[in-house]
Amino acid sequence: MNTQLLTNSKEDIEAAAGILKEGGLVAIPTETVYGLAADALNPCAVSSIFEAKGRPSDNPLIVHISHVDEIEKYDLVREFPKSARLLAEKFWPGPLTIIMPKSDSVPRETTGGLDSVAIRLPSHPVAREIIKAAGCPLAAPSANLSGSPSPTTAQHVLADMQGRIPAIVEGGSCEVGLESTVITVCTETPTVLRPGKVTLEELRDVLGEVNLSKAVLEELKEGEEAASPGMKYKHYSPKARVFLVKGSDMAFCCYVNTKEPDSTAALCYDSDVTALHCHTLPLGEKEDFDAQAHNLFAALREADEIEGVDTIYVRCPGTDGLSMALFNRLIRAAGFQIITLRGEGYRLIGLTGTTGSGKSEASRVFAQKGFAVVNADEIAHKALTLPECIKKLTDAFGGEILNSDGTVCRKTLGRLAFSSKENTEMLNSITHPIIADLCEEEFDLLCSEGASDIILDAPTLIESGLHKICDRVVSVISEKETRLERIMARDNITKEQALARMNAQQDDEFYKEHSQYVLVNDGCLEAFREKAEELAEELL
Ligand code: TXA
Ligand code: MG
Repeated sequence: MNTQLLTNSKEDIEAAAGILKEGGLVAIPTETVYGLAADALNPCAVSSIFEAKGRPSDNPLIVHISHVDEIEKYDLVREFPKSARLLAEKFWPGPLTIIMPKSDSVPRETTGGLDSVAIRLPSHPVAREIIKAAGCPLAAPSANLSGSPSPTTAQHVLADMQGRIPAIVEGGSCEVGLESTVITVCTETPTVLRPGKVTLEELRDVLGEVNLSKAVLEELKEGEEAASPGMKYKHYSPKARVFLVKGSDMAFCCYVNTKEPDSTAALCYDSDVTALHCHTLPLGEKEDFDAQAHNLFAALREADEIEGVDTIYVRCPGTDGLSMALFNRLIRAAGFQIITLRGEGYRLIGLTGTTGSGKSEASRVFAQKGFAVVNADEIAHKALTLPECIKKLTDAFGGEILNSDGTVCRKTLGRLAFSSKENTEMLNSITHPIIADLCEEEFDLLCSEGASDIILDAPTLIESGLHKICDRVVSVISEKETRLERIMARDNITKEQALARMNAQQDDEFYKEHSQYVLVNDGCLEAFREKAEELAEELL
């Protein structure tokens, strides 16, 4: 089959519509990525999409319309829920796909056998003209071979689909560059299944409560079901291996510069280019997420084309706003692996231990011996004053966690967050990444002031994952009896309260397992201080 390149002229759009009307496939431009379109109501036509892409047939397709009235005209849904109407009013035409209860008119082939249908009204004028001219809704997945990065230019489509489809309509480079946000209103609380240009924050502004499907930011474990079938497949991968790297500007460049430059490409920020020795593919300015989204897939494809390149290092995006969509695509391209770096020029010792064991005493000894000390509790308090953190916490726990002046009431937050395991996990998933970033900033600051050995004093160092960035971990443990008395005296609480606090913590084995050094406090202060001093000297 010869693949024709069509323009967006009137005749060519008619030609494309002709192919679609007869049950053929045409790749079309949209504002997100190019789609591989077929008549959504023709089971035969839809089946050939799966064949051309090599896509598993249980992965449902998005149905594209050119006007919201077509939902009724083509009888696409059993119900057009109020929440979906609100979203359509606010975000259509545009990069949002809404999943609703499907009607019987939509064939099973289109929805991968599901009882729901995904609908999108794109804003790209050429896409809408083609839908109108074809006179039917168009099922269209991204027009790439299954598994590779989505195409954002007609050339990308041609590279994947030449000889497999009759035509591609040229429509320039896609403005957004990442696939649409997918939200379902079929769940009790609307749920985002795939993040995109329309952000979780924007959706919450319209609907209030909106959940985020677990598969968006994490790898699903064996046996866990993806709410969106597409989330379970390997995705967005070029042929080269992709590594996601988290760390400061300097740490990223230093790390990548340790690699063989000819076989390495870096997907980086514009400002990194001069510091890097390998092939560079800048995505945009550090804070320009629109540019990064626009350029990401093209850069992944381009990196693959550089001769000799077999490894791609990419700067790890954050997880809020549009960054969430970047992160979601990249974490899949990287097979869910993140390399976490930290600044150069200092050594970081993590200090942790069971409550009441004498961790603070050890911290004081280390400080006297010349270590700079960063107290994670203080950093955590600071995190709670940041607007981005307050926003996420109120989204998760409601406005009642705020004092009348808009600051976080730590007591109320604590009560809510520790009321169930789920809530505690939610709190941690919000605060831990922010605390980690703040710690990193603090280390860099201390380093610039001349510190070369830093202690990170953190009661939940290991639980929060911060131990992974430490060169060494020191745990302080002691007998239960000693701890009990110390906690009661120190915090002026009853035996029961002290016991509850102790029982909420990990046991000694946990600390031994995760640390290189264990300081045992047997109750004699002098002896303990001496042990700590010895260790400090050994570590310096
Ligand atoms: O921007 C886009 O959405 C592009 C352009 C062409 O419109 N299309 C696109 O389609 O990205 P595709 O097939 O690559 O991704 C559709 C995603 C898949 O993850 C699929 O599993 C999910 O939407 N999906 C579709 N219908 C669904 C449904 N009824 N329930 C749950 N997930 C659904
Ligand atoms: Mg796709």
